[in-house]
Parts: sequence; C-alpha cells; structure tokens
Amino acid sequence: MIKKILITGGAGFIGINLAYSLLNNKDNFVIIYDNLSRKGSEKNIKWILSSGFKNIEFIKGDIRDYTKLKKSVKEYDCIYHLAAQVAVTKSVENPIEDFEINAQGTLYLLEAVRKNSPEAVFVFSSTNKVYGELLHLKLKEQETRYSLIGKNGIDENENLDFHSPYGNSKGTADQYIRDYYRIYGLKTVVFRQSCIFGPHQHGNTDQGWVAHFIIKTLNNEGITIYGDGKQVRDILDVSDLIRAYNLSVKNIEKVKGNIFNIGGGIDNTFSLLEFINFLEKETEKKIKYKFSDWRPGDQKIFISNNAKLKKELGWFPKISKEQGTKALIEWIKANYKDIE
Ligand SMILES: NC(=O)c1ccc[n+]([C@@H]2O[C@H](COP(=O)([O-])OP(=O)(O)OC[C@H]3O[C@@H](n4cnc5c(N)ncnc54)[C@H](O)[C@@H]3O)[C@@H](O)[C@H]2O)c1
Repeated sequence: MIKKILITGGAGFIGINLAYSLLNNKDNFVIIYDNLSRKGSEKNIKWILSSGFKNIEFIKGDIRDYTKLKKSVKEYDCIYHLAAQVAVTKSVENPIEDFEINAQGTLYLLEAVRKNSPEAVFVFSSTNKVYGELLHLKLKEQETRYSLIGKNGIDENENLDFHSPYGNSKGTADQYIRDYYRIYGLKTVVFRQSCIFGPHQHGNTDQGWVAHFIIKTLNNEGITIYGDGKQVRDILDVSDLIRAYNLSVKNIEKVKGNIFNIGGGIDNTFSLLEFINFLEKETEKKIKYKFSDWRPGDQKIFISNNAKLKKELGWFPKISKEQGTKALIEWIKANYKDIE
C-alpha cells in the first residue's frame, strides 16, 4: 500500500531533509506544500525535483490560503506541519504576518485535516521558545558559558511562557494541535525543538545560527553576536530529529496527543563563543566577531531534557555535535558557490 504524506514547509531546511528520507522508500508518495518564501527554499525544491524521484509532487501554496489548503488536503496517511515564519526578529518587525502564518495558518490546516483527513497522523514542529526566557533558572556564569545549576535540562513540565510574537504564534499553534487531539481525536504529536542543524540549512542572521556562523566563517566575513556570547544551546542533527518523527509515526497509538521536548541534550551543547572557537580550529580561520544587544526573549541557556522521548520511544541523539557540525562544514563548502 502506498503511503500518502503531506509536508507543509517541505522546501525548507528540515522539510527537505525529511522529504528526501521519505522519498527513498518507494512505498511513500510525498506532497510538498510550500510558498517558497524562505531564501534557499527555491534551491532546495529544485534540488529534490531534479533528484530523479517519481513519487513526489510539489504544490506551490501558502498556508494562509484556506481555499487552496482545503483542496490540497485529501486523505493522507501522515501530515508533517513544518511551514512557518521561523525568525523571532521578523516576528517582532511584523507580528500580524507572523500570527497569520504560524497561528492562523495552523488552525486552517487543522480544520482542513479534521474535515478531509481525520485519520492522518499529524506531526508538528514546535519550539523551545514556548518556555520563554526561563529567568527563574539558577545559572552559573563561567568564562565561556552559562551553566545550569541543579538541572540536566528543561522537560515538558516546564511552565509555558510565550515570549516574543514568534513564541506566541508557535505556542498558540502548539496548544491548538494538542487540543485537536482532545476535542476532535486527531492523532497529533508535538515536538518542541531546540536548535536543529544540518545540510540544506540556509542559515542567516535571523535564524539558523549554526549554518550562518559556518557560512560567514568560510566566506571570511565577520559575525555579530547578540548578547555576551555565553548563551548555551543544545544542538541536534536533523537526521536525529527525523528519526524521532518516524518513531512517533510508527508508534502513534502509544504517543498520540503527546508533546515532546527534543534537542541535542546535555551532551551536545555549545555556547556561541565555544562554537566560534571550535569553528576556528576546524576551518583554520580567524573569525572576526562583534557584540550587539541581546535579542528579545533570548534564553541564556536552553538544554532539552530528552528523558520522555527516551522512555516512550527509546530515542536519544546518535550524532554528536562535533560529528554533525563537521559534516555541515563539508556540505556548505561543497554547495555554496561563493565560498572559496
Ligand atoms: N531549525 C530549527 O532550529 C528549528 C527549531 C525549532 C523549531 N523549528 C520549526 O521547524 C519548522 C521548520 O523549520 P526550518 O528550520 O526548516 O525553517 P525553514 O524556514 O527552512 O522552513 C520553513 C518553510 O516554510 C515555508 N513557508 C514559510 N511561510 C509559509 C507560508 N505562509 N505558506 C507556506 N509555506 C511557508 C518556507 O518557504 C520554508 O520552506 C518551523 O515550523 C520552525 O518553527 C525549527
């Protein structure tokens, strides 16, 4: 039986990696729905459409176009909802557009699914930004980083505290999706993701900092650090994220209605200063950087506690931060023409 799969935002970084992994199974038919608004998405979609797959269809569409969305949502086995306005900075500049894409667009999709494809598994990429700035955490300031005192990371019991328009719009979507499980019985799973990195990530100053720092370094350009650079992030290779998505789909009867935090966890953290140091060694380049003001809602530290995912699905990150980022450096060298 052919499995019909819809990926909204499927031309983006995570979406294109997900599509590629699904397309390698001939029993899957993948439909990508994306408006190609993200710089780099056009490149991604051209790449996948010219990769020789016969089991793919591309619909150029906007998540805010309810009429088109309803027509595009037929009976699917699985829906991955990844389309989003993804940058906190852009959400501050234009909160209405951010809300319309992330919150209203998600509600449109949920309604289309409820009416046309209620049996589909529905996977959503939410964000750790729903937990806000986490000012109550006890932190120690060290030379190159902040560290958490008395905690291994943030789990799903952390209070929601939407901060920034992006935090609000993604958090709204996150809660609607959970509620469509309770009220309408949709088979939903929500992943609150930390920083994800990997091939096809066209990082820029607004979003995708791991790829952005690598691109700037390889181009011999300077980097602006917002804040003091000691902020810590747990980073996760996109293939590990996709493995978790797949496990949740396979075990949907067990995990439907659940929310999971997901990230590199305690073993895969970098502060921005530490990542710069690592990059200098890996690329043998001296990186010029300057500091600017903190960005709104920016957490001094975020580390995902992945214990629930491990308990429910046996998942844990397999690719280390060093292994993954070295592979990304090579991918960027091979795929960015403007890099020497
Ligand atoms: N990359 C990360 O570190 C990270 C972390 C937490 C959460 N997320 C979430 O994961 C999802 C995918 O993120 P990504 O890193 O692949 O970002 P991305 O920007 O590469 O992908 C998003 C895709 O959505 C598309 N899109 C944007 N607005 C749209 C609209 N109105 N209609 C249709 N398509 C639209 C874009 O063209 C793009 O292809 C997003 O929902 C994001 O909020 C990502």
